[in-house]
Amino acid sequence: MGEPLLLQVAEPVEAFDTPALHALIKDMEDTMADMNGAGLAAPQIGVSLRVVIFGQKEEVKEDNPRYPDAEDVPYTVLINPVINVIGKEMEDGWEGCLSVPGLRGVVPRYAEIHYSGVDQYGEMIERTVKGFHARVVQHECDHLDGVLYPMRITDFKTFGYIDALFPDDDIHDG
Ligand code: NI
Repeated sequence: MGEPLLLQVAEPVEAFDTPALHALIKDMEDTMADMNGAGLAAPQIGVSLRVVIFGQKEEVKEDNPRYPDAEDVPYTVLINPVINVIGKEMEDGWEGCLSVPGLRGVVPRYAEIHYSGVDQYGEMIERTVKGFHARVVQHECDHLDGVLYPMRITDFKTFGYIDALFPDDDIHDG
């Protein structure tokens, strides 16, 4: 947080199934796995393109120490995403971010969304989701528009250091 690239609007991807795109996604996967993230956006590793990844692959699903209670979200590569909100209902939930290490905050997000985009091969992806899945997609896609979750916090009493907010939990982060 504070890095100018994280505040930029990222550029759409125009070429699919290219070595450069596959290398970017591999780099993002490695970073997300190393940091036990629920998702990652390309700008977080210094690449201003509209690429996000989120969810967990089957083989690593057992336990994510950062998001132990997360509902299962399938591993997804989502490029040039478009989100359409379904209804106006919003839900509060805790969020952290690999670009804002050591902190958590309560962020209101739309409870249900429809999202679409393409994968790294240019194949269409389209889903209607709610809850944690909807939250992760909104968080990651915000990164593509230069928005970090602290900018969405409405009650700053809920924003703080993980160690102070959850002294009894063994949550490691950044
Ligand atoms: Ni983030």
